Amino acid sequence: MGFTPDFLDEIRNRIPVSDVVGRRVKLVRKGREHNGLCPFHNEKTPSFTVNDDKAFYHCFGCGAHGDVIKFVIETEGLSFPESVERLAGQAGLEMPEYTPQDAERSLQRKTLYDVMETAAKWFETQLVAQAGAEGLDYLTRRGLSKTTLKKFRLGFAPEGRSALKDALLSRDGITEDMMVEAGLLIKPEDDGPHNNKNTEKPSYDRFRQRVIFPITDRQGRVVAFGGRALRSDAKAKYLNSPETPLFHKGRLLYNLAGSRKSSYDKGRVLVAEGYMDVIAMAQAGFTNAVAPLGTAVTEEQIAELWRLAPEPLMCFDGDKAGIRAAQRVAEKSLPLLKAGYSLRFVHLPTGEDPDSYISGHGEQAFRDLLEKAQPLIDILWHMKTGSVEADTPEQRAGLEKSLSETLSEISDKTIRGYYDKAFQERLSTLLGGAFTPDHSLENLANKKNHFDFSPKDSDRWNKAGRNKSLPGVKKLRETGIFKGPQTAGIKRERLLILTVLNHPWLLKQHHEEFATIIFESVELDKLRCEIIDVSLRESDLEHKSLYSHLFKTGYGKALEVIFKQGEFKAEWFAWPDAARQDVEQGWFHVVNRYRRVSDLEKDLKAAEKELAENMTEEVYNRFLALKTELENAKGNEASIDGYGNASGREKLS
Ligand code: UTP
Ligand code: MN
Repeated sequence: MGFTPDFLDEIRNRIPVSDVVGRRVKLVRKGREHNGLCPFHNEKTPSFTVNDDKAFYHCFGCGAHGDVIKFVIETEGLSFPESVERLAGQAGLEMPEYTPQDAERSLQRKTLYDVMETAAKWFETQLVAQAGAEGLDYLTRRGLSKTTLKKFRLGFAPEGRSALKDALLSRDGITEDMMVEAGLLIKPEDDGPHNNKNTEKPSYDRFRQRVIFPITDRQGRVVAFGGRALRSDAKAKYLNSPETPLFHKGRLLYNLAGSRKSSYDKGRVLVAEGYMDVIAMAQAGFTNAVAPLGTAVTEEQIAELWRLAPEPLMCFDGDKAGIRAAQRVAEKSLPLLKAGYSLRFVHLPTGEDPDSYISGHGEQAFRDLLEKAQPLIDILWHMKTGSVEADTPEQRAGLEKSLSETLSEISDKTIRGYYDKAFQERLSTLLGGAFTPDHSLENLANKKNHFDFSPKDSDRWNKAGRNKSLPGVKKLRETGIFKGPQTAGIKRERLLILTVLNHPWLLKQHHEEFATIIFESVELDKLRCEIIDVSLRESDLEHKSLYSHLFKTGYGKALEVIFKQGEFKAEWFAWPDAARQDVEQGWFHVVNRYRRVSDLEKDLKAAEKELAENMTEEVYNRFLALKTELENAKGNEASIDGYGNASGREKLS
């Protein structure tokens, strides 16, 4: 029986040599290679190396050298076909039954790579030609440098049904069928039994008027393309190559080949959702980034990521879909977890992806975010406890049950044991506290209204888990986080803005109030003016458009801080799901206090001045009275959060 080269390649591609060798030899990872004692000769110091990248093993002592298949032959005493069969089984590949045509197809498949490479080159030239002006302009506007365009081999598919087809068919050895098989051309379906050659519709270019992102395999060969529309009214924002003999999207990662060295060197790999994210990250120096190919992260991709680094960092978009995607990977990883390997999760603010975050806040800020990545257990804990109540015995039992379901997903016994322990510790902290009246129940109730895993919020939860003490909201208040006139002032100003951002309709009805307040914080006041500006230009402002406008005009950082304010959790009226009436009432409450403080401040200044000029008992008394009044007002101010206490929150649920 013969095997085609590509079938053998597939085996080598799917099974890392270190997996197979590792079962016989104790391997220690050193950078991009694994070392161990050679199984082929007797030695005391390791001179046997395994390189997964190059897919071979080599012994510097005795010269033994080969690939996975050879290793099985040499160590198991199996024949070549037997070894192939065993490995194919491990790789989940069916043993092919070969015909001469298959052999030919396999030969042809070699040339499909050439077709893809030729297409990639052509797209690249189009980008810098007249036909690609719009595409180049677009990419330049998005901040990509010439070097980046080259490095990622970005290209352009011009308008017209057969631009690529015509260009490539004139090349030697490229046929229409090959282009169809490579996914470059679409062949319209036959439309019925009466169809014959004469009425057959011509095939046409799959990618038209799109920026082209070549997708390469683990060896850096172009195997597919992603095409991004230039206009937002296009049918699909991204169009990807279909599954072809060369391209299986669930198994590959975007920029896998490009990031491998950097990932090894840094011992870390970053996983984004989009092509643009990967490219923007690389341009900013984060060259160890990859992305799935328009689908949820698959098991195979998780395994692939673990070959690059033990704890891949998921940098998913800070929106609902991104959070959901993160949770799905978290769940999917459970059966795959093995000693030393896990996932971490980076939290991006709502509405941002790595690309926008880096361009808005800079690479240092992004680096800081990476450092704050949360471990898998925190994400799981959040998923399970974040949106549930645990008031009644039944609810608590429910929570325990759902945690134990998560545990049952973990296949590795040791890891499952550790998770079990960790969950129990956290659970006892959480539930233990709930029996005392002023404790964590409030926290739980808080959570159910706005679930997210913002770092601020989760910090509290993490700490709760680790320190075995869950500070109630009341405790936080007492420890003085909200104290101090300055903090209170800025906090109040942020709160006013947050409410307006979540409820832009306030601007319509209470424009005057918001427009005439002057904030202490110069930065926040600029932001306030910008909001007033937009609201004058756009009559029907929506949360989304307001947010994206502000983001574009450079207020991303300020917005991030505002949305991250964990302590605002208590100000229920500011949040998106609050009832209109409550929003209005809460907002005015703060506005009025604000005005009162600022009026008092003015009066006090005036009295001070008067006192300097005319020191009488009467003026002095007035000065003192104003001072006390202001202190009182500010003191109240410092506890504006007290306004949104439990009784108010109940209205929400
Ligand atoms: P995003 O919509 O987040 O795109 O989709 P992006 O990469 O950030 O691109 P820009 O910044 O809007 O230009 C994330 C990924 O999901 C896939 C693509 O792989 C994309 O990179 N996708 C998205 C599709 O396959 N089809 C689509 O229509 C949209
Ligand atoms: Mn994006």
